[in-house]
Amino acid sequence: MADTILKPVEINKGVFWVGAVDWAVRQFHGHHYHTTHGTTYNSYLVKGGKTALVDTVHIPFAAEMFARLSDLIDLSKLDYMVVNHVEPDHSGALAQVMTRAPQATIVCTKNGEKAIREHYAAEGWKFQQVKTGDAIELGTHTLNFLEARMLHWPDSMFTYVPELSLLMPNDAFGQHLASSGRFDDEVDHAVLMDEASKYYAVILTPFDALVEKKIQEVVAAKLDIKMIAPSHGIIWRKNPMEIVQAYLRWATSPGENRVIVAYETMWGSTEQMARAVMEGVAEAGVEAKLYLIPTADRTELIRDIVESRGLVLGCSTINRRVLPGMAAILEELRGLQPDGKIGFAFGSHGWGGGAVKIIEAALDDIKTTRTQDGIEVTYRPTPETLAACKEAGRKLAEALKG
Ligand code: FEO
Repeated sequence: MADTILKPVEINKGVFWVGAVDWAVRQFHGHHYHTTHGTTYNSYLVKGGKTALVDTVHIPFAAEMFARLSDLIDLSKLDYMVVNHVEPDHSGALAQVMTRAPQATIVCTKNGEKAIREHYAAEGWKFQQVKTGDAIELGTHTLNFLEARMLHWPDSMFTYVPELSLLMPNDAFGQHLASSGRFDDEVDHAVLMDEASKYYAVILTPFDALVEKKIQEVVAAKLDIKMIAPSHGIIWRKNPMEIVQAYLRWATSPGENRVIVAYETMWGSTEQMARAVMEGVAEAGVEAKLYLIPTADRTELIRDIVESRGLVLGCSTINRRVLPGMAAILEELRGLQPDGKIGFAFGSHGWGGGAVKIIEAALDDIKTTRTQDGIEVTYRPTPETLAACKEAGRKLAEALKG
């Protein structure tokens, strides 16, 4: 029986949001991504003569999607199951859909079919592979496809409905933001852009060059875009080009003239050094943000590092290595490869160092321009050392201003 509470939302003529809102999730991708505001898994039903379901939801939310769908369609009559992206938060309910709709044709890229077969048994499933420029005529609505390889998986693609100027780009332009409203004009705009920027920084930074190229491709194709309906968070209808412009900025900019000082400390010595660095930066007239890594929201910290040009990392040495919070940050930065950073390392140790060299190796791995050698102290920083830290901060600020 249909759930009387979980209703679909018609987001455009003949296009219905049939997804799910995950208000409670705080850890995404294992413990990789801290989702402060929850998320949504967006699935869309296009009724345009023939019918197409565009993406599904994370498997624990399948019942929610089916409840919304039950108001609109008998799935045994569904024509197409479009899979823009196979990651389980979007294809999780695919097998359940195909059980209810064995007649439906799965529409995806060549890499999409490969990934579906690597995730699911897929026995008896019908596939139609599509590439950029291919179209499926539903009747009143058309589905156009645009491959988006490595944005952010090999299988990724966008679906576009030209009659509505509606782009459904799956993960691209998404945000982890649970809300009762489905549209950008129904949520706090500052929170929306904050979540969109974290999403870009944590998911798409390694693909900056591809993002830039893809946006140029969309601009060159003169694709009219009046609505962007991603697979996470709200739908952009008020000013959809705002998020496209933001992506172009995030993809091409090395960040703001701001310094992130992030540190981990055992007995407060490294913390004193961090504060001295920050004061030097601020006194030179450049914005600085101080993060104690173990108490910071890691996703917010990573976003701030990606979006700031100045980067100063400090850590105490333990067993000749860095502390575990710093190790996680360095590992994530090595993967993300944010461009154009400038900064240095610092830290205290007891009888033998190690942490500063490890941080410097990571800074070199992400091609940071180091303004100076790391500042290391034994046990406690002297007033002279703190003055050197402050001076190092000031020098970095001057380099950023220059
Ligand atoms: Fe939202 Fe790449 O999955």
